[in-house]
Formats: sequence, structure tokens, C-alpha cells
Amino acid sequence: MNVRALEMWQHISKAISFAGKSVIDLGCGYGDLLSYAKGAGAWHYIGIDKDVSQATPGIPVVNRDIAYWCKTTDEKYDVGICTSVLPYIEERHVVLSWLASHCKEVIIEVQLYGDGPGLPEHTSTLAVLVWLKKYFDSVQGIGYTTPEGRSHRALWHCKGVSHGSDIA
Ligand SMILES: C[S@@+](CC[C@H](N)C(=O)[O-])C[C@H]1O[C@@H](n2cnc3c(N)ncnc32)[C@H](O)[C@@H]1O
Repeated sequence: MNVRALEMWQHISKAISFAGKSVIDLGCGYGDLLSYAKGAGAWHYIGIDKDVSQATPGIPVVNRDIAYWCKTTDEKYDVGICTSVLPYIEERHVVLSWLASHCKEVIIEVQLYGDGPGLPEHTSTLAVLVWLKKYFDSVQGIGYTTPEGRSHRALWHCKGVSHGSDIA
């Protein structure tokens, strides 16, 4: 289990009800958040990760590149999750566009620059907010995760497709 998993879940479960919902976690790692979602009543849960060796038993994880998944899959989900993954993905635009258009609600956590492998432009929580607003109509901070001796990393609850003209 990831050391941040419980702290993330405490924030996420206050913001979203999982009962009867379908959930996808892009870059799920161990699948900790899907295990919690399952326990909270999600009826369908699936993870996508390029490394399935770390998956928790009982949590289905598809061995796939995330950007490839987004380009080739038109399935819709109630909840999409993508935590501590986006800086590793080159085609972040593809992934964020897919989440915005295929999931009713999305939880995102992004490392800040210098606080793990963050993107150079993400030097502050505000910079991440401005970035996410290009993709989603509504972006709300729901809490921070703090373990591993790092500074605060915001968790964002996002909804709706933004039709802003400056997506890149
Ligand atoms: C830092 S871990 C985060 C795991 C989990 N989301 C969490 O918050 O604990 C990053 C995860 O993204 C996966 N990953 C990175 N790049 C990927 C890609 N292009 N396609 C699929 N999975 C990827 C890694 O295998 C790893 O499990």
C-alpha cells in the first residue's frame, strides 16, 4: 500500500460517494484507491497501469500505457482517478481530455515542481489549478496529502468539460 493512500482516501471519500458507481484509476499503482472504492460500494472498478506486478489481489488492473488507453477506449465512467501520475506522461493533454469527456467526476493529484517529479511549470498550487481549468468546468481543491516528508500536494475534484480555447 502506498503511504499516501489512506490520507488521499479520507479527502476523496468526503467529496464523492462511490456507492453504485463505476471507477477507473489511470496509473493506479497498487490499486489502493480502487480497493477503498470497492469497499465503499463501487459496482465496477478497474485500474490501468504499465506495471501490473504491484496490483492488489482482487483489483483488476489492465497492463497498458495510459495515453494509449485513452486514445483507443470510449468507455464512460462515473469516477476517474489520476493521482501522482501526470508528470510521468508525455501526452498529458490526451489523458486530461479523455478524463474530462469520459468521466462524470475526476480526482487528480499532481506533484509540484521540486516535490517529486513535477513539471517545471507547476511551481505552485495555483499554477496547477489554472492548468486543470483548461480541461474542466469546475475544479475544487478537496485537501492535501503530506507524507514522505514532502510539502503539500493538492487533491482536485474536477467536473465537466471546459470549452476554453487555450487547451494545449
Ligand atoms: C507514483 S505512482 C502513483 C500510483 C498511484 N496512482 C498513487 O497515487 O499511489 C505512478 C504510477 O504510474 C504508472 N505509470 C507511469 N507512466 C505510465 C504510463 N505511461 N502508462 C501506464 N502507467 C504509467 C507507474 O507504473 C506507477 O504505478
